[in-house]
Amino acid sequence: MTDVEIKKGLAGVTVDYTAVSKVNPDTNSLLYRGYPVQELAATQPFEAVAYLLWHGELPDAAQLAEFEASERAQRALDENVKITIDLLPLDAHPMDVVRTAVSVIGASDPEAYDSSRESDLRKSARLFAKLPAIVAYDQRRRRGQELIDPRDDLDYSSNFLYMTFGDLPDEVVRRAFNVSMILYAEHSFNASTFTARVITSTMSDLYSAVVGAIGALKGPLHGGANEAVMHIFDDIGSADNVGPWLDAALAEKRKIMGFGHRVYKKGDSRVPTMKAALDTLVEHYSADGPDAGDLAALYDALEAEFVSRKGIYPNLDYPSGPAYHLMGFDTLTFTPLFVAARVTGWTAHIIEQAASNALIRPLSAYNGPEERHIAGYVADP
Ligand code: CMC
Repeated sequence: MTDVEIKKGLAGVTVDYTAVSKVNPDTNSLLYRGYPVQELAATQPFEAVAYLLWHGELPDAAQLAEFEASERAQRALDENVKITIDLLPLDAHPMDVVRTAVSVIGASDPEAYDSSRESDLRKSARLFAKLPAIVAYDQRRRRGQELIDPRDDLDYSSNFLYMTFGDLPDEVVRRAFNVSMILYAEHSFNASTFTARVITSTMSDLYSAVVGAIGALKGPLHGGANEAVMHIFDDIGSADNVGPWLDAALAEKRKIMGFGHRVYKKGDSRVPTMKAALDTLVEHYSADGPDAGDLAALYDALEAEFVSRKGIYPNLDYPSGPAYHLMGFDTLTFTPLFVAARVTGWTAHIIEQAASNALIRPLSAYNGPEERHIAGYVADP
């Protein structure tokens, strides 16, 4: 075996520059194109943040109006996408449905193989506009409900919630949803974004890179954690069961979903903003019954107990899972919501990778059998 240092999981390895976002675990900060994500979440519609990630600057009023008009005009799904979704089994995981639908959109796009920056920006905006209809439709069909056509008089978040639930959201819900989309939009070289960059580095097309990224996001160590958090909450049941449940889980060396992060070791910079949004939802939904209060008590109890025992802090998936639950999304729909948000970051990175490309092809250290030979084999003279 060669004597090389292996960086398992590429932990701590810096592989390239990026101007899209900056994660600083020492100061617990996350900047999108220089702006603190908390400031963006407090002041901007998600549409403006998507524009910022792609173009490097926030849009002025005219640019935002033009971008919104184009986004609203592209929201509806083409017939072939609807037919494909209808053909998929109702128990297909929603992430498989989203992955398949994006693949169909790519296979049907005449400019799929135009790799110019202008074309990639158009394709990015197309996916951004259509993903809400895919996610909303899939949840509705699993509930035996009809597809609701998008409305072009609504902003992105209102329309997303309207297409999913059939009525206009209360302002507190719309705001919390907008915040979650902004916080999920971008996070430097995470596993799914890196997957997208690897695919782009082979000079493959944008849709292939996004489909690959969806596959990477699906896993519970990455985006699938927001779904997994809700499964854990269901399993624990109530705040007073946290201690015994944690005893058993830790004895079995299980990972507690929604906690821990490869980069942040002192807490995820996005959590306080999402937790504040969750608190507004808890207050809002408490009027409907005890579920919201019980959920909040369980949330606080698990966080307090796990942090005190292990010193491992919540990541963004911890508050966003319960937030999406309170809004009424099926647990299986949580990670597709992450896709709808992160498609902005993925495509910003795809465009950046393509602009200064180098094939991503690392080395490996071989640790298999020594060279050996097939018995009786004689090489041709
Ligand atoms: N539950 C229990 N133990 C944990 C957890 C956790 N959630 N996270 C880390 N640890 C322990 C781990 O077992 C290991 O212990 P030991 O040194 O005794 O073997 C130690 O902490 C280091 O963990 P690691 O897995 O080697 O560290 P990493 O940097 O590779 O892990 C992680 C990062 C996100 C994979 C991990 O924290 C994890 O599996 N968390 C649960 C899944 C999750 O919430 N993922 C979402 C990540 S953030 C948002 C996103 O990308 O969607």
